[in-house]
Amino acid sequence: MKKAKILIVDDEEKNVKLLKALCESLGYETITAKNGIEAIEQTHKSMPDLILMDVMMPEMDGFEATERLKANNNTTHIPIIIVTALASRNDRIQGIAKGADDFLTKPIDSEELALRVRNHLKIKEYYDFLKNHNKILEQQVEERTRQLKKAFEDLDRAHKRIKFTYMETVYRLTLASEYKDEETGQHIKRVSFYTREIARTLGMDKDFVETIFYASPMHDIGKVGIPDSILLKPGKLDPEEWETMKTHTIIGAKILSGSESPYLRMAEEIALTHHERWDGSGYPKGLKGEEIYLSGRIMNIVDQYDALRSRRPYKPPLDHEKAFKIITEGDGRTLPEHFDPEILNAFQKIHKKFEEIYETYRE
Ligand code: C2E
Ligand code: SIN
Ligand code: SIN
Ligand code: SIN
Ligand code: SIN
Ligand code: FE
Ligand code: FE
Repeated sequence: MKKAKILIVDDEEKNVKLLKALCESLGYETITAKNGIEAIEQTHKSMPDLILMDVMMPEMDGFEATERLKANNNTTHIPIIIVTALASRNDRIQGIAKGADDFLTKPIDSEELALRVRNHLKIKEYYDFLKNHNKILEQQVEERTRQLKKAFEDLDRAHKRIKFTYMETVYRLTLASEYKDEETGQHIKRVSFYTREIARTLGMDKDFVETIFYASPMHDIGKVGIPDSILLKPGKLDPEEWETMKTHTIIGAKILSGSESPYLRMAEEIALTHHERWDGSGYPKGLKGEEIYLSGRIMNIVDQYDALRSRRPYKPPLDHEKAFKIITEGDGRTLPEHFDPEILNAFQKIHKKFEEIYETYRE
C-alpha cells in the first residue's frame, strides 16, 4: 500500500519539525510549506492526502489558503485540519466557514493528532476509491457506447450491402421470368422509377416510396408459371390460353407469399392486384376501387404504359404520345375508368417523366 502523504503548513521551523516527526513516526510521508501561497502551490504539485494547516502565517494565512483550496474542484476533497495556537472559539467558527474539516490545538497532543489524521485519511481513501470507481464506470460506459455505435454503423453498412445484393437478386430472378417475352430486362428497371415517381406525386411517405421502388420489379414474377407457347404466341390468345395467362397474378403472389420482408410483402400485393381495375373489370378477383391495394393500383398504370411502349411478341412498340393517349382516352381494350382517378391524374401531371425514364432505360 502507498504511504499517505501529509502536507504540513507552518511558518515556524520548530512546529514543522515537530509535526513532521510525529507524522513520520505514524508511517506517513510528509511535505512542507511555509505559508498559504506555498501551501496552495505544493498542494497542486504533490496532491497530498491531508493538510495540517497553521493559521497565523505571513504572505497568506491558513484561513485564506483553506478557503481557496476548498473553492477549487481539484483540491476541495483534500481534508484540511486547522492547527490553532489557542482553542479560540472565533478561530473555529472562521475555520468552519472557510471549509476546514477539523481542528487541532497547540500544543499538539500526539494521540489526538494520530486519531484525527487517521479518521480523515480514511474518509479521503474512501472518497478516492469512489472517484476512481466512477471513472472506471464512465470509461466502461464510454467504451460500450463506442462499441454500440460501431455495431450500428456496421449494421447500417450491412443493410446497404444486403439491399444492393437483394436488388441484384431481384433483377436476376425477374429477368429469368421476363426474358422470354421481352427483348431485354430494362422493363423491370423502368418500373422501379415510374412507381417511385407516382408514389412521390401522390405524397406517399419515404418508406412507401422506397418500398415500392424495390417491390415493383417483381410484379410479373408469376410468368415463370406460364408456358412459353402462350407467353410467346405472336397473335391473340384464345379463351383457354387467356385463362391460363391470368393466373400469372396468383402464381406470383404465391411465390412471394409469407415473407417478413416489407419489400416482398408489397411485391406480393402488387403481383396479385396489378391487373385489377378501379371499375371492377380486372382480374383475378374483380376487385373495385380501394379494395385494390394502392401499390397494385399504381403498378397497373405503370405496367400498361411500359407494355404499350415496348415490343411484345404479340404487338409492336408505340411512341409516348400513342401510349399516353390510350391510357388517358382509351382504345376499347383500355379505358380511363380502369384507373384510380387520383393516380391517373398523377400520371397526367408527370407523364413527361415517364417518357424520360423510358428513353433513359430503353432496350
Ligand atoms: P404485357 O404484354 O406486359 O401487358 C401488360 C398490360 O399492358 C396488359 O395487361 C394490358 O393491360 C396492357 N397492354 C399491353 N399491350 C396493349 C395494347 O396493345 N393495347 C392496350 N390497350 N393495352 C395493352 P393484360 O391485358 O392483362 O395482359 C397481361 C399479359 O398477358 C400481357 O403482359 C401479356 O404477357 C399477355 N397478353 C395479353 N394479351 C396478349 C395477346 O394478345 N397475345 C399474347 N401472346 N399475350 C398476351
Ligand atoms: C491524491 O492522489 O490523493 C489526490 C488525487 C485526486 O484524488 O485528485
Ligand atoms: C488554485 O491556485 O487554483 C487554488 C487556489 C485558488 O483558488 O486561488
Ligand atoms: C474531507 O475533505 O472532508 C475528506 C473527504 C471528503 O469528505 O470530501
Ligand atoms: C411484362 O412483361 O413485364 C408486363 C406484362 C404484365 O405486367 O402482365
Ligand atoms: Fe402482369
Ligand atoms: Fe410487366
